[in-house]
Amino acid sequence: MRDFLKALPKAELHLHIEGTLEPELMMALAERNGVTLPYASVEEVRAAYDFDDLQSFLDLYFQGMSVLLTARDFEDLAMDYFQRAAAEGVVHVEMHVDPQAHLSRGVALEAVMEGLERARRRAEDELDLSTAMILAFLRDRPAEEAESLLEQAAPYLDRIDAVGLDSAEVGHPPSKFREAFRRAGELGLARVAHAGEEGPPAYIHEALDVLDVCRIDHGVRCLEDEALVARLRDEAMVLTVCPLSNLRLKVVERMEAHPLPAMLEAGLNLTLNSDDPAYFGGGMLENFLACQRAFGWSRETFARLAGNAIEAAFMSEARRAELR
Ligand code: ADE
Ligand code: ZN
Repeated sequence: MRDFLKALPKAELHLHIEGTLEPELMMALAERNGVTLPYASVEEVRAAYDFDDLQSFLDLYFQGMSVLLTARDFEDLAMDYFQRAAAEGVVHVEMHVDPQAHLSRGVALEAVMEGLERARRRAEDELDLSTAMILAFLRDRPAEEAESLLEQAAPYLDRIDAVGLDSAEVGHPPSKFREAFRRAGELGLARVAHAGEEGPPAYIHEALDVLDVCRIDHGVRCLEDEALVARLRDEAMVLTVCPLSNLRLKVVERMEAHPLPAMLEAGLNLTLNSDDPAYFGGGMLENFLACQRAFGWSRETFARLAGNAIEAAFMSEARRAELR
């Protein structure tokens, strides 16, 4: 089964590029850039990754990315990940990027965009890996800051496929970002949003009603609302589920207790994704394998889930046809 899952062409629709920063690269970039981290070794970094919830992860996620300063750092970050992903059968990666977390540290948007663009070109040339970019708004920051980011991103719109909404969910409902998402739509960008990870099902309804999203990132709490499940099924709304993330952030206590099988049973349009692979214990293949161990799914089920992601991806129809 491992060989089958590795060979299965996998598209990753929910990934934070800053969440791919492995401890080894974090330490190397800290050294290269003269940044001080509160860790003496790679082992100490890994030992710190024991999370109670989303916020306890986000604290270390934002701390870890403090080593990213130059375009070269962003290129190295993304290329390091693209190589690992390609080696486990990933053929397409859609990366969320969190520019506000870099701008607030004095890192120019140009450095972020140039570095990631170089890595994307190399991924295409060297790895036959297609990529897309999702400009994410930090939902625990003011809505005006998201609107300003969108204006600042004007020179890069041709490289951006969608806007997204991430970071601390509870207390920051989708409606807070009505204007930024409206403007993104006007600019021709697709819309996605994290909803129903830690937040209530009402946030999923709101993301659909107010932000006009074409995908819900996570959405695992939808089962608490029967009408919502019917709506998601009837609209064939894509949910980008991240099993290992949910386990490590204690959204679920054990993988066997994950709502994925019930969501599948309910006829939802599901995809499997890794979210922040450097922090949650593995990339796409590890997420597929964790589902295999916990749920005993058949090859057909995994092939269907992988196919859902190819159909929902931001990619050219020519590329989609190649991957079908
Ligand atoms: N940023 C990075 N990973 C995230 C997650 N799982 N939820 C919300 N924001 C994030
Ligand atoms: Zn996420």
